[in-house]
Amino acid sequence: MLYLSIKALHIIFVTSWFAGLFYLPRLFVNHAMVTDTATLQRLALMEHKLYRFMTPLGILAVILGMWLWFGFGLSGGWLHAKTALVTFLIVYHLYCGRLMRAFAEGRNTRSHVWYRFFNEVPVLVLFAVVFLVVLKPF
Ligand code: HEM
Repeated sequence: MLYLSIKALHIIFVTSWFAGLFYLPRLFVNHAMVTDTATLQRLALMEHKLYRFMTPLGILAVILGMWLWFGFGLSGGWLHAKTALVTFLIVYHLYCGRLMRAFAEGRNTRSHVWYRFFNEVPVLVLFAVVFLVVLKPF
């Protein structure tokens, strides 16, 4: 019962974290296309609030995942591969924080096209992680 409750919470926080990982780079796409001050300031505020909201969700998703792994003695190559992908996702999250600060300080140098590709990265990671954890291929 405890194991399944933790797994349910894990999936809830993973889903919530991904809502932010999908939406924040989408805000960056819009931010890279606008020039008027009012819109620039509004997008910077939205990005700041979203980043502050999604960070604890990511931390809880990872803590609960680690609890499932180490608390119940699970093992398997899929867990190591999954953790490697999640580590990449954490780096992506932190890089979004850097980009957010660059936008807020008017230091963004990348185009909206670059952000459209950047926005797709979490989608690819989500596919890989979910297939890994459900199929456990190795
Ligand atoms: C380092 C971070 C993470 C660790 C250590 C971890 C570990 C685990 C473990 C041990 C399970 C239970 C597997 C089972 O009962 O079959 C699990 C379930 C799950 N994890 Fe994670 N997880 C992490 C992050 C994530 C992330 C970022 C995602 C999404 C992309 C994710 C998606 C899932 C899903 C969908 C399940 C349910 C699988 C099922 O019920 O078959 N996890 N995780």
